[in-house]
Amino acid sequence: MEFEPVKLNEFEELARKILLKKNYDFFRGGAEDEYTLSENIKAFQRILFRPRVLIDVSKIDMSTSLLGFKMAAPIMVAPTAFHKLAHHEGEVAVARAAAACNAIMVLSFSSNCTIEEVASSCDAVRFFQLYVIKQRDVSMKLVKRAESNGFKAIVLTVDRPRLGRREVGLKNKFVIPKFANLEGLLSVNVKSKGGSDLKALPSATLDDAVSWKDVEWLRSSTKLPILLKGILTAEDARKAVEAGVAGIIVSNHGARQLDYVPASISALEEVVRVVSGAVPIILDGGVRRGTDVFKALALGANAVMIGRPIIYGLAAKGEHGVKQVIEMLQNELELTMTLNGCPGLKDITRNHVQTENDRLR
Ligand code: FNR
Repeated sequence: MEFEPVKLNEFEELARKILLKKNYDFFRGGAEDEYTLSENIKAFQRILFRPRVLIDVSKIDMSTSLLGFKMAAPIMVAPTAFHKLAHHEGEVAVARAAAACNAIMVLSFSSNCTIEEVASSCDAVRFFQLYVIKQRDVSMKLVKRAESNGFKAIVLTVDRPRLGRREVGLKNKFVIPKFANLEGLLSVNVKSKGGSDLKALPSATLDDAVSWKDVEWLRSSTKLPILLKGILTAEDARKAVEAGVAGIIVSNHGARQLDYVPASISALEEVVRVVSGAVPIILDGGVRRGTDVFKALALGANAVMIGRPIIYGLAAKGEHGVKQVIEMLQNELELTMTLNGCPGLKDITRNHVQTENDRLR
């Protein structure tokens, strides 16, 4: 270990030194020109604070709940694929760290540890991220396994009809590992179509025909609440609410799917406006600082999720590294609330931030 990180981004530096280049590139990369990848970070930097003073901030309460489940802070672990490429303990280490921080983890469909391994690693509230794939019965089997293993919600990712074109992966001839959760379940290996990691990724793990009808199908087949991940417009947010989902995740998949979509923080407000409190809204994409978390909350999100920083913490120091990443972000949020004059999450308002649009008015 060369230095002790004092901010999330420094875990990336450590991870870059430790990981095989092709694995680091897989985690870091975005689609095509990576415009959205850099926007996810830059858009947060264009939002400024309007702090209030002379408010008693001697006690800060960051605790909250989502769908009735308590969390230490409005910070969750986003579903990201193949954690064993970062550390041999994989998703089990992340699950333990998240549980220790009282943060909800969303386990990826594309995990290296199975649903069962993660469920038996420790007690915690966890959600399962699902793709609806060509073999609907296989997707449904995963939902049933998530249910019977105590997962509390299904996060249905809807922005991946095909894989985005991730050119670093193409250059590195990156080969996607096996999908542990699908072991023994897929009966076909249909020829690949489009996307970057072609040779390795069986198109059986995708379906470009998925539609709103499948949301209805999923809703009628499970009692678990369903959150839709990958909503970026008011139009789709309205449809999601009409479809009866329990929550919306404003996300551009960490800029790995369609390039030149706005940063998710830039898309947040239009979603917040149309949803108007009907269901909780979570944001992910580029959250690296407690100040970013605060900005997302001020613009109307109920919570945020972090993707890459978790992987980098895992690569750098295993379970302990993930715990450090989450705690660091929680501590930064606490300080941001203090300095903005907000003792509780309910005290954070739209007036505490000034966006670029506000400045143009
Ligand atoms: C992802 N993401 C993702 N999303 C999902 O629904 N299922 C998945 O399996 C994955 N896998 C995945 C792998 C890697 C390496 C990355 C970086 C991202 C997207 C993820 O859930 C989340 O939307 C972003 O990671 C959030 O952006 P940041 O925090 O990484 O900037």
